[in-house]
Amino acid sequence: MPVQLKTLLPLFILFILAFLIIRHFLVPDSFGQNGHYRAESLEENADHPIFYAGKAVCIECHDDIAALLDSDAHSGLSCEVCHGPGALHADDFEIKLEKPGTREFCGSCHQIHPARRIEVINQVDIKEHHLERKNCIDCHNPHAVWDLKE
Ligand code: HEC
Ligand code: HEC
Ligand code: HEC
Ligand code: HEC
Repeated sequence: MPVQLKTLLPLFILFILAFLIIRHFLVPDSFGQNGHYRAESLEENADHPIFYAGKAVCIECHDDIAALLDSDAHSGLSCEVCHGPGALHADDFEIKLEKPGTREFCGSCHQIHPARRIEVINQVDIKEHHLERKNCIDCHNPHAVWDLKE
């Protein structure tokens, strides 16, 4: 064995040992149980609180509004795109949801925008369209948009 290797060999062994010891403390316990990832991360992700209840849950209590929604152009929308996450409300209806019907809110989908295809979603200029009333829901019923208010 060349003499320089003899002096370096203990150093190499020391590095490898240090690597193994540090690795032992840094790798999480559940790593590798199911594959090349931390098995606990599955549980942690499944434990995240749920904020959205889904339309089916809303319909259990609001079938009248769901039927109205189904009858008109907004039938494809989920309740929570407008009312926000409703899981807490579905458990306790004392918790109020938002009911936005402003020009800005409806405009988030309906404002004329070059990136939106008019055949897919009809658009108006919210700064010009029927300015005689302030909010969109002063005329359009949000659940049945063509049921216009006088
Ligand atoms: C367990 C029955 C139940 C479920 C499920 C439920 N709601 Fe309600 N919701 C109610 C009741 C009862 C009221 C009336 C409460 C009140 O007037 O204080 C209400 C009121 C509302 C209101 C009006 C609140 C207000 O401030 O005027 C909205 C909006 C609403 N619900 C939307 C939803 C949406 C969206 C879902 C699905 C995520 C949903 N609800 C699921 C029972 C329910
Ligand atoms: C396009 C947006 C939009 C969608 C989609 C929508 N809502 Fe609403 N909703 C509103 C707005 C805005 C109001 C407030 C209406 C007002 O004050 O005149 C409202 C009011 C309500 C109210 C209060 C009572 C009433 O009739 O005003 C309930 C309850 C409600 N929505 C439930 C639902 C449920 C359940 C769904 C799904 C089946 C749903 N909404 C879908 C925008 C929407
Ligand atoms: C999440 C996106 C979204 C929001 C928010 C939304 N809409 Fe719509 N709206 C749609 C879609 C999708 C349709 C169906 C496609 C279409 O007819 O343009 C539609 C259809 C309509 C139509 C009928 C258009 C037609 O040509 O028949 C009117 C009117 C309308 N919405 C008004 C409103 C008003 C008022 C609000 C606010 C309360 C609102 N929308 C909020 C997505 C949205
Ligand atoms: C003063 C009542 C009134 C208000 C406020 C109003 N609309 Fe309308 N909207 C109408 C009428 C009436 C029509 C039928 C076509 C027309 O007269 O422009 C219509 C048509 C539409 C259409 C279909 C496009 C078309 O030209 O047929 C969309 C989408 C729409 N409105 C969305 C909205 C949105 C979004 C708002 C809020 C920014 C809003 N509307 C506010 C009365 C109103």
